[in-house]
Amino acid sequence: MTRKRVAVLISGRGSNMAALIEAAKARDYPAEIVLVVSNRPDAAGLARARQAGIATALVDHTPYGEDREAFERALDAQLSAHRIDIVCLAGFMRLLSPWFVGRWNGRLLNIHPALLPQFKGLHTHRRALDAGVERHGATVHFVVPEMDSGPIVMQESVPVIDGDTEETLAARVLALEHRIYPQALRLLAEGRATLSASGDNKGAAPK
Ligand code: GRF
Repeated sequence: MTRKRVAVLISGRGSNMAALIEAAKARDYPAEIVLVVSNRPDAAGLARARQAGIATALVDHTPYGEDREAFERALDAQLSAHRIDIVCLAGFMRLLSPWFVGRWNGRLLNIHPALLPQFKGLHTHRRALDAGVERHGATVHFVVPEMDSGPIVMQESVPVIDGDTEETLAARVLALEHRIYPQALRLLAEGRATLSASGDNKGAAPK
């Protein structure tokens, strides 16, 4: 088995990144995490990745100002240098341009803490509580140019419980994220989840 070479892009804590690193330690896992890239120098996940013996890179977006593509070309140079096959966004807080998304089409995953298409964007837990939904959850999806909108690879839900706060609900969803992201990456790395131009996508049925 040739394991796919994966880069994880982060901006902060990196708990999903850590879950992917942990899962990839299994002998039969079809992917290895070879690079962690952050766009923020203070991302706590960078130290976590180094402790795990993974190569890290910092591509700070601030010097590029409004020139999103120039930032992404620097990012892409890191990915090429490490011969990356698949990119996983994990709390990466930059919108990616159609150029970058097109370049990684079908090889670019994101995790979103909500049951997409519900609650795209930020503050999903607060918005779920405000909306009074009975279930909330997490989604791993292929990245397309429109934010939080690509075809779903895997999605699972948890109940919203009486008395939940943003924090308790976020913690319940995060535990789910840590479980489904490694499963979704496995599906992609094994060719069991694919993104096709015709829109005939393969993924796990939402639960
Ligand atoms: C996660 O909830 C993820 O779904 C969202 O941002 C958060 C990142 O957390 N996109 P972490 O950095 O993986 O701990």
